[in-house]
Amino acid sequence: MTLVVHTLGPADDALAAGLHALCFKESGERAWSADEFRQLLGTPGCLGMVAVLEQRPAGLALARVAADEAEVLTLGVVPSLRRQGIGDFLLARLGHACRQCGARCLFLEVAEDNFPARRLYGSNGFVVVARRDGYYARGGCRGAALVLRRELARDKPMRAE
Ligand SMILES: CC(C)(COP(=O)(O)OP(=O)(O)OC[C@H]1O[C@@H](n2cnc3c(N)ncnc32)[C@H](O)[C@@H]1OP(=O)(O)O)[C@@H](O)C(=O)NCCC(=O)NCCS
Repeated sequence: MTLVVHTLGPADDALAAGLHALCFKESGERAWSADEFRQLLGTPGCLGMVAVLEQRPAGLALARVAADEAEVLTLGVVPSLRRQGIGDFLLARLGHACRQCGARCLFLEVAEDNFPARRLYGSNGFVVVARRDGYYARGGCRGAALVLRRELARDKPMRAE
């Protein structure tokens, strides 16, 4: 299995938007537009990457670094390619890239009922630091979000490409 990551830049807006729509299709979350990705990926401190499995785009991850903290903005894997370690791989690569940009800890928000993502983050050393009631609006319901945090100094070893 050949799994690699490539950096996303503003010119990859359509690729990023297409992947995001595919990865979040069944979640009820709003798909981010190509315009939004172009702006985000051109913002200083914003890191974007796409996982490529056997030359096929398989998932994406974005984070924003500000001083010594970073935040995961989005992370998703194409539905047909899940449970093969791609989420784990993207998270490790993103954490490493944030660390290289000076971040010492990584934050993210996850819906309380998103159990696959919570398992992924829990097994990568993230711990819950806050809970926000009614944070997510999906299909007329408002769900709670958990804020998770992980130190980046203790990086989990990265899987070989
Ligand atoms: C969450 C997500 C990124 C996981 O991607 P993935 O490539 O399937 O994850 P991995 O194969 O690397 O899984 C790593 C670990 O996460 C946990 N995990 C992942 N998916 C899981 C599931 N459906 N059920 C239970 N645990 C799961 C497991 O512990 C897994 O390790 P294991 O396979 O050895 O048991 C993917 O399900 C996804 O894109 N979901 C929709 C978008 C989303 O919710 N993103 C997160 C927003 S905060």
